[in-house]
Amino acid sequence: MGRRPFIAGNWKMNMTAASGAKLIGELKPLVKDANCDVALCVPAILIPEMVKAAAGSNIKIGAENVHWAPSGAYTGEISAEMLKEYGVEYVIIGHSERRQYFGETDESVNMRLHAALKAGLTPIVCVGEMLAEREAGKTDKVLDRQLTVGLGGVDDITKVVIAYEPVWAIGTGKTATDEQAQETIAHIRKKIGELFCPMCAQKVIIQYGGSMNAGNCKGLMAQPDIDGGLIGGASLKLDFATIVNYDKE
Ligand code: PGA
Repeated sequence: MGRRPFIAGNWKMNMTAASGAKLIGELKPLVKDANCDVALCVPAILIPEMVKAAAGSNIKIGAENVHWAPSGAYTGEISAEMLKEYGVEYVIIGHSERRQYFGETDESVNMRLHAALKAGLTPIVCVGEMLAEREAGKTDKVLDRQLTVGLGGVDDITKVVIAYEPVWAIGTGKTATDEQAQETIAHIRKKIGELFCPMCAQKVIIQYGGSMNAGNCKGLMAQPDIDGGLIGGASLKLDFATIVNYDKE
């Protein structure tokens, strides 16, 4: 199928210009022989410094959010063109923390996604169910809604990365089991096949996210439908390199 694995970090609201540049400097030699694509999504204000810190390496820099409009009266927001101007290549869209704390909806996810694609950024669209939804047997239904609305109107779905992040596994130390993650991601791929085309679904990169770390990454990455990881806590330290090198001894 030829899907190139993709490991991305999500720093969330962590790090400073100094500690971020130091970490990237230390990661560079450790990840240089990676057999996967590597990115770090960082707080917007750190982007220029982190792009400089990662220059000449295989670490690409991403943002954690993007606004849907090209410009205008949206105090506090950042457009896709602004990100692009500073060398950003990826952007996380619809992270569960944005859905939970900042009123993000499937509709706003879709608008942001179109803005990112138009500017030539690679979006990492996050989907995932809450614990109550999983326990009520509604996981597939929730994901189907997030995918149908969130990805609506996309011309080339292969330009979109999906991150499956069960909300109950984020920052909790509770990872989905390899089997749970595989089963749910296989469902996501099938749904993308129905919404777009089965052939394109086979090309879409789907990451797992939620307490993925140096200890559990090998098992997760061994699953046939898991193409990578979106790493929160473990991307703030050198463990990130261990995850990137999951396929080496
Ligand atoms: P975590 O976060 O790895 O700290 O669970 C993942 C994420 O929220 O992207």
